[in-house]
Amino acid sequence: MASAGMNGNGNGGGMVKRMGVLRVQYYCVMGAVAAAVVLATLRYMPGPAASTAVARQAVAAAAAPMGSLGGRKRKEEAKREKKEKEDGVVLFNFGDSNSDTGGVAAVMGIHIAPPEGRAHFRHPTGRLSDGRVILDFICESLGTHHLSPYMKPLGSDYSNGVNFAIAGSTATPGDTTFSLDVQVDQFLFFKERCLEAIERDESAPVDEQGFTKALYTMDIGHNDINGVLHLPYDKMLEKLPAIVGEIRKAIETLHKHGARKFLIHGTGALGCMPQKLAMPRDDDSGLDENGCIATINNVCKKFNALLSETCDELRLNLKKSTIIFVDMFAIKYDLVANHTTYGIEKPLMTCCGHGGPPYNYDPKESCMTSDMDLCKLGEKFISWDGVHFTDAANGIVASKVLSGEYSIPRVKLASIVIPPKSDD
Ligand SMILES: *[C@@H]1O[C@H](CO)[C@@H](O)[C@H](O)[C@H]1NC(C)=O
Repeated sequence: MASAGMNGNGNGGGMVKRMGVLRVQYYCVMGAVAAAVVLATLRYMPGPAASTAVARQAVAAAAAPMGSLGGRKRKEEAKREKKEKEDGVVLFNFGDSNSDTGGVAAVMGIHIAPPEGRAHFRHPTGRLSDGRVILDFICESLGTHHLSPYMKPLGSDYSNGVNFAIAGSTATPGDTTFSLDVQVDQFLFFKERCLEAIERDESAPVDEQGFTKALYTMDIGHNDINGVLHLPYDKMLEKLPAIVGEIRKAIETLHKHGARKFLIHGTGALGCMPQKLAMPRDDDSGLDENGCIATINNVCKKFNALLSETCDELRLNLKKSTIIFVDMFAIKYDLVANHTTYGIEKPLMTCCGHGGPPYNYDPKESCMTSDMDLCKLGEKFISWDGVHFTDAANGIVASKVLSGEYSIPRVKLASIVIPPKSDD
């Protein structure tokens, strides 16, 4: 529906000015929100049975249509639920906007408007993208539903884990409200409450075994790097060990509390972001052969090298753990350098921004303010809003993360998360 409108007045530049289209989208969104609220209310009605149990029944009912819930059936149901719990993938994610699945919008009460969400969910979800973030694709490929934000009050289902990521967060404590240490504390709070509930014979979304076998993912550090980019180059580099040290601390704390499998994302190629490229500069001598800012990318590479070394050390020191480091810079830089391979025409330009070519980014006006220059739906862009990736780009990045080709050690993610099939 949105696509029909969006294609309405496409022109040679590939950019369309939004017209009445957004108003139509707005009403669609209002409808969707109303429906979601009604659904959520219904879900919560049964009261003490706990919403996850109700959600589970709904899932089970969908999986086995028309299943009556007689005594014997109920027992089978319980048995299957137990088995599902044992087999199901559990993830706990810590991060910033790159993996925020609606957390910041819920916490801060931010009104997120279309066109966010237009390419996948068809309505804004609080993700800073036109669709899914990398974490969503990872969940999909591991056969589980998208992770619910820790602080999202409606419609959350934590049976497959929790997303603690909040847009804007830093690894450095105190720089932001939901810095990594706070996210880890929130995890510890969640875990304690779950185990307490189980102790009292009440249900909890994740049990002890779930916490042990879970995958702990981290994608953070971008905002810390952003915070030091105003410094001279050598001073920037001096700041990196402390940032990486915070990520190390978080991994160690989680390990101390039973976490065993980690997926640690490095930082992306921040020097290729339209937001950075649109900053005024004297000349283009600081740009590399792909048009990205070389010094910023060098800082990102140094950050990743330190983080990768840290993961190497932790692998030796932390007992019985699997720690995967993903070279996000290589993945994201390849997307820019080899963009035509991926069907992307303008790797350094935003899909949703202001000002048109070359970057279509204006620091004074966010993507969502009125009369933005918006690319056509279906046209492949890397950057959604100058900082965050599009659904299409995140999908490509996720497939590379999952492949293991950019990972140390080089293992397919599914192989460490999904247990080998038992004959049952
Ligand atoms: C571009 O693709 C080629 C061929 O796959 C590859 O060898 C090269 O490393 C890629 N460039 C970057 C910067 O990743």
